[in-house]
Amino acid sequence: PSIVTLISGRGSNFEAIVKTAQKEGWPVKFAGVIANYSAAKGLDFARSQGIPSFAIEHREHATRESFDAALIQKIDELGADLVVLAGFMRILTPGFIRHFEGRLINIHPALLPAFPGLHTHERALEAGVTEHGASVHFVTEGVDEGPIICQASVPVLPDDDADSLAARVLAAEHQIYPRAVKWFLDGRLRIEGNQVQVQPPES
Ligand code: GRF
Repeated sequence: PSIVTLISGRGSNFEAIVKTAQKEGWPVKFAGVIANYSAAKGLDFARSQGIPSFAIEHREHATRESFDAALIQKIDELGADLVVLAGFMRILTPGFIRHFEGRLINIHPALLPAFPGLHTHERALEAGVTEHGASVHFVTEGVDEGPIICQASVPVLPDDDADSLAARVLAAEHQIYPRAVKWFLDGRLRIEGNQVQVQPPES
């Protein structure tokens, strides 16, 4: 199976998935990485791994539809059984999501349904929660609300600030995202309504 990954920045989640795949010898092809701007550091990592890397600048597109159409064309050209959003900071149009629904996943730095949207760590600290974390989910038309595949929770410590909390959450992301991708590749994920059933491994 082939994976295409969309990134916007350093791509640390993308790197964690690739390194886990290499370490565990997954039968997978990383067909390409697309960033929404050419300076995204994750493109350097992709190039270092010989993974085809592309920048499709959202600024060069007058509309979201035009940008998303360019993304769809490139992803379909590369061939993707799974599209992984990894720190991808653009809202995708319903047309894009419909095109890839069921094989489009994202990681959100919060324990959904808590704290959808941006600045999740600041908001968790503001709310005084003692537990925070990350969620991997199928992408549906609502932002940050698709069926959840897996979550990791981390403690919020008394002296945390947004950076220390973000770092703890990011480390958890790097643990759960590769697992969720592998479950998908192994065909173990069944979407039932807004729930995901993870099937037992092939016996
Ligand atoms: C991080 O804030 C992470 O929580 C979220 O996107 C941001 C960048 O992730 N998923 P990455 O390092 O580009 O994967």
